[in-house]
Amino acid sequence: MQFTVAIDGPAAAGKGTIARGIADRFGFAHLDTGLLYRAVGRRTLDGTPAAIAASTLRLRDIARTDLRTPEVSDAASKVAANPEVRSALVAFQRDFATREGGAVLDGRDIGTVICPEAHVKLFVTASAEVRAHRRWLELVEAGHDTSEADVLRDVEARDARDSVRAEAPLRAADDALLLDTSTLTIDEALDKAAGAVQTVLESRT
Ligand code: DC
Repeated sequence: MQFTVAIDGPAAAGKGTIARGIADRFGFAHLDTGLLYRAVGRRTLDGTPAAIAASTLRLRDIARTDLRTPEVSDAASKVAANPEVRSALVAFQRDFATREGGAVLDGRDIGTVICPEAHVKLFVTASAEVRAHRRWLELVEAGHDTSEADVLRDVEARDARDSVRAEAPLRAADDALLLDTSTLTIDEALDKAAGAVQTVLESRT
């Protein structure tokens, strides 16, 4: 069976948690596509030109454990605006999306560009303040010394860059289900998302 779930939305809206939860519940494979851009951004910090970093990306680059720092977030957001980088990463994502057994991909352009034919499309969002608070808690827990105000500024800067770029800007697909997680618990958000997936799966049998 091929079944693709596309989950898009801004940073720290909860799409990664929802994507992993959907993958667990339904036994689908999961790809966090932000890791591809983070791995390319990381390699540019080491001196590799962005287009070369993207076209020679290996699985071990994505498995690095240093891809979640603010420095790499910033580099990822910059390389994500580069059309050569984006096109070098398309085939890998589409192959993943059409694998047997079902796949969940989360990112910014999955429902609009990578998988416009996805069976389920979700656009997960939350207010900038709520997202900055969540990201700040994650960073503090990981031992980073940063203020909530700085994280909010970063979140807003990245939102602006991701939304206004010419190439695959962040936006909801016309047929995406909007899920605002600002006032939802993780379980509530996941239940809503899983309900949407279940409905489409049942309609196919
Ligand atoms: O989801 P994230 O924070 O790990 O994403 C890192 C950066 O990559 C972010 O600035 C947006 C960009 N990105 C993108 O342009 N397209 C995707 N499908 C996934 C991420």
